[in-house]
Amino acid sequence: MATKTARAYTNIALIKYWGKKDKQLKIPYTNSLSLTLDKFYTDTKSEIIDSDKDQIYLNDELLDDAKSKRITNYLDFVRNYFGFDQHFLVKSVNHVPTSAGFASSASGFAALAASINQTMKLNLDNRSLSILARNGSGSASRSIYGGFVEWIAGTSNDTSYAVPIDEHPNIDLSLLSVVISQDTKKISSTSGMENSVKTSPFYDNWVTLVSSEINEIKQAIAQKDVQKIGELSEHNAMSMHALTLSANPSFTYFAPETIRVIQLVKSLRSQGVLAYVTIDAGPNVKIICTKESAEIVQKYIDDNLPAVTTVVANIGNGIQYI
Ligand code: PMV
Repeated sequence: MATKTARAYTNIALIKYWGKKDKQLKIPYTNSLSLTLDKFYTDTKSEIIDSDKDQIYLNDELLDDAKSKRITNYLDFVRNYFGFDQHFLVKSVNHVPTSAGFASSASGFAALAASINQTMKLNLDNRSLSILARNGSGSASRSIYGGFVEWIAGTSNDTSYAVPIDEHPNIDLSLLSVVISQDTKKISSTSGMENSVKTSPFYDNWVTLVSSEINEIKQAIAQKDVQKIGELSEHNAMSMHALTLSANPSFTYFAPETIRVIQLVKSLRSQGVLAYVTIDAGPNVKIICTKESAEIVQKYIDDNLPAVTTVVANIGNGIQYI
């Protein structure tokens, strides 16, 4: 049987992961909750090669040692974990419109974990796959499933994994991605988290806040209350960014246009349009809308900020083998 391609979609955290209790295993301080998105995905195919080195292609480019290091280190971890010694030819293609501004680590490591599962006939269930993906990138643990997904923090490698909340929610929710910059961020999420945990006086409050916001958003999801989901997501994102501003030394992922988009969204809200922002470890803004409000919000942002790019996404699926 020919090896299939593993496809994983990216996800956006509504209640975010910001801080590792265990750096090596990527065990977070808190649970987090995300929405998997359609359109933005990674396709990965791997095969065993007769070599003592992995060969990694990303978007048809053979990566040199420096560029492939994070992936080959991950493959070393996988070999060690399962006790095999084969090396791989990995071909990975990101189907993230270059203008969408989504980090590819979530879909990238989820697709890679699923691809190795296939090629090595590991027969992992989704929980084990989520654990495997988490070891590549924390947020990848959630891209195993579609729809709303919770990553249970856990306390060890075997107890830290994502679970589906509702994989195919029948809810009127769209997400508008506003791309301000596509440059690689200067402060990686790993070092940003570490600085926040070590130096923000508010870190303990964040841990308490997340545990209550996770429960509240799960209720809002069950009630299909998009406004409440938006309110909680925006508050959670702002609280995460408050940890960067209150770190010592202080830092921020916001660009001037990030603030401008936040102001535009608030102005739309005061006119009765449903729109709430969420922002990851970068300047780009994602706006939680309904299908109807997405069109209005997109036009308003495009009219007021002609230099930014906007892309509408809907709810996406979990891992697929094609
Ligand atoms: O998994 P990482 O290292 O890409 O970190 C993700 C951090 C955030 O995107 C800001 C939050 C999240 O939960 O995805």
